[in-house]
Amino acid sequence: VLVCSDETVRELYGEPVMRSLASAGLGAELHTFPPGDASKCLDQLNRIYRKLGQMGLARDGFLVALGGGVASDLTGFAAATWMRGVPYASCPTTLEADIDASIGGKTGVNHAAGKNMVGAFHHPDLVAVDPECLQTLPARDVSSGLAESLKHALIRDPEFLLWHEQNVADILALEPDKMTELIERNQHIKGQIVQVDEQERTGQRALLNFGHTVGHAIEDWTSYGLRHGEAVALGMMVAVWISQARNLLHETQAHRIESVLQAVNLPVRAPLTLDVDAIVDRTHSDKKVRRGQRRWVLLEDIGRPVIRHDVEDSLVREMVRRLNDTG
Ligand SMILES: NC(=O)c1ccc[n+]([C@@H]2O[C@H](COP(=O)([O-])OP(=O)(O)OC[C@H]3O[C@@H](n4cnc5c(N)ncnc54)[C@H](O)[C@@H]3O)[C@@H](O)[C@H]2O)c1
Ligand SMILES: [Zn+2]
Repeated sequence: VLVCSDETVRELYGEPVMRSLASAGLGAELHTFPPGDASKCLDQLNRIYRKLGQMGLARDGFLVALGGGVASDLTGFAAATWMRGVPYASCPTTLEADIDASIGGKTGVNHAAGKNMVGAFHHPDLVAVDPECLQTLPARDVSSGLAESLKHALIRDPEFLLWHEQNVADILALEPDKMTELIERNQHIKGQIVQVDEQERTGQRALLNFGHTVGHAIEDWTSYGLRHGEAVALGMMVAVWISQARNLLHETQAHRIESVLQAVNLPVRAPLTLDVDAIVDRTHSDKKVRRGQRRWVLLEDIGRPVIRHDVEDSLVREMVRRLNDTG
């Protein structure tokens, strides 16, 4: 078994995981990489391959991703490609990975050509979530993960949005029962969507990209200076404003979405002045571009997403500019 983890997570949880594998009679080694999205790269992938080669890990072995979305994307892709595919287990330690990255089988690394540009669909055989790991997670990363939880509620489940609104204090305090419920409900929503459209062919899975067209562009433009969820929160605001400008979404709902994002300490205006043109340009290189047209996930109502291909750049520019209006 090869356990792959970033250095921060290894310090916190490496030892108990290695002990647990040893007590199950499994020969396991630990491989680490520096924390952060920059490790989702071909160079770190190659280091994992080198380690697997040294160990002589064959199809009767498996990998374990221990950590956040970076660990599961990178390790999952190594597992997808090593010897044309070996199994892997995911042990998520961030909220982002508990509710999103560890489910659905998307694995991969970033490339100069774009974020998550090189990858494969490869599902883990096991996802073992320990919500207690959230206790050591910085508050900023908890909020970042909550962006995906709110995304799931917004595209699928109005009652779940209400649940977030009613339980904000408990959620931010990481109250164990509430976090378990939050994780289960999110896994259920993502699992359902992925089951009907595993490879993003029918448009169902594309709904999970709500807020991600502009979110990824901002993430890329800031060179990952913002957390993924923070960039997605800004991207969701742009999608909400576009929905409103298109007379799809009522103003009351737009305000409600803005308030709940703020309540969980996510940004709804840019924390630094965005280069509007550079960001709009980047939305064109996103993987969600189909036959030259960007695919926009907009909202008609909470829980009622629609996909549009005809959102013109001038409107996007106007709404990205609005993120800079901090006054
Ligand atoms: N494959 C998918 O479907 C999918 C879905 C969503 C996100 N992602 C990817 O996931 C990544 C973001 O995930 P992330 O936010 O988990 O990032 P991450 O893996 O970089 O973790 C964030 C930070 O938290 C630290 N950390 C992790 N667990 C901790 C803990 N329990 N206590 C203290 N610190 C801890 C890490 O060391 C890191 O510095 C992005 O690359 C994104 O593209 C993939
Ligand atoms: Zn995301």
